[in-house]
Amino acid sequence: MSLPNWFTLRADDSFELGPRLFPGRIWTASGCFAYGLSGHDMTASDLASPYVGLGAVVTKTVTPAPRTGNPMPRLCELPTGAINSIGLENVGFDAFLQDILPQLEKMAVPTVVSLAASRPDEFGEMVQRLYGSAAGYEHWHGVELNLSCPNVAEGGHDFGGDPDTVAKCVAASRPRLPDRALLVKLTPNVADIASLAAAAGHAGADAISAINTVVGLDVDLKTGRPVLPRRFGGYSGPGVLPIALAKVDEIINKAQIPVVGVGGISTAEDALKFFALGAVAVQVGTAQMRDPFAAAELVKELSGQ
Ligand SMILES: Cc1cc2nc3c(=O)[nH]c(=O)nc-3n(C[C@H](O)[C@H](O)[C@H](O)COP(=O)(O)O)c2cc1C
Repeated sequence: MSLPNWFTLRADDSFELGPRLFPGRIWTASGCFAYGLSGHDMTASDLASPYVGLGAVVTKTVTPAPRTGNPMPRLCELPTGAINSIGLENVGFDAFLQDILPQLEKMAVPTVVSLAASRPDEFGEMVQRLYGSAAGYEHWHGVELNLSCPNVAEGGHDFGGDPDTVAKCVAASRPRLPDRALLVKLTPNVADIASLAAAAGHAGADAISAINTVVGLDVDLKTGRPVLPRRFGGYSGPGVLPIALAKVDEIINKAQIPVVGVGGISTAEDALKFFALGAVAVQVGTAQMRDPFAAAELVKELSGQ
């Protein structure tokens, strides 16, 4: 595509976010490219790997203890996207620090580590341990506090729906992360996302990632029951794009904190809409699950190549 005149950025240029220089403005979203390790043996006809030009891979969210996640089925495909109820299945923080993060560094994957916890001080402890393990790493750029996952009772959207709690999670983490970016991922399932973003900013966050999934439900007409055993899940993919754009616009206009836009991006045009509103970077989620080269393809298109 030919890029519009107003778009003067290059997707593969480095840019500053808080104390950190990120190598590009197109990232992959948490939970949609696993831990970011699996793309190295993949090639496409015109791209050497799914990592070409990426600014960051945001890892699957890691919790203090390993989690097996919710019962199956956990993903329901729709014409406009997907509804998932994975329930934060992950290897746990110890295994992540020991086995996964060192491999990401060795493979030179630009990494943002996504963390979830059930109390603000637990976030602080995780960030401290992470920094203790990875302070010398060149490719680890920051932390995204997942204050928004709708599938986990103790870390669910009520947790991320209270500005005081958001501020406490940031305040517990910020002093332990001196030279890396601190992002807060917010849920769209709230009435006033801008006040949550402002609370994060005042407490020291460098940016907001918005949005996580939108609460959704689908019904199996054969049984007359919800498709997912937990009834509700997180809706993502092309159908959430206008919701994500509206939430990002609200934050940018009311909260004065940089925003990394996420939600419904599968084409260069989708990504450009977030940049038009003032987002500093974007993340690709569901589209990346369907095609591991989706984000790298966007880099190519939005770098005028
Ligand atoms: C299968 C799946 C798993 C996800 N897991 C996480 C996660 O672990 N942590 C998180 O912050 N967001 C998670 N998300 C949300 C995405 O990162 C993203 O915010 C959301 O899907 C909207 O973007 P999209 O429409 O491009 O997918 C997940 C989304 C999907 C579809």
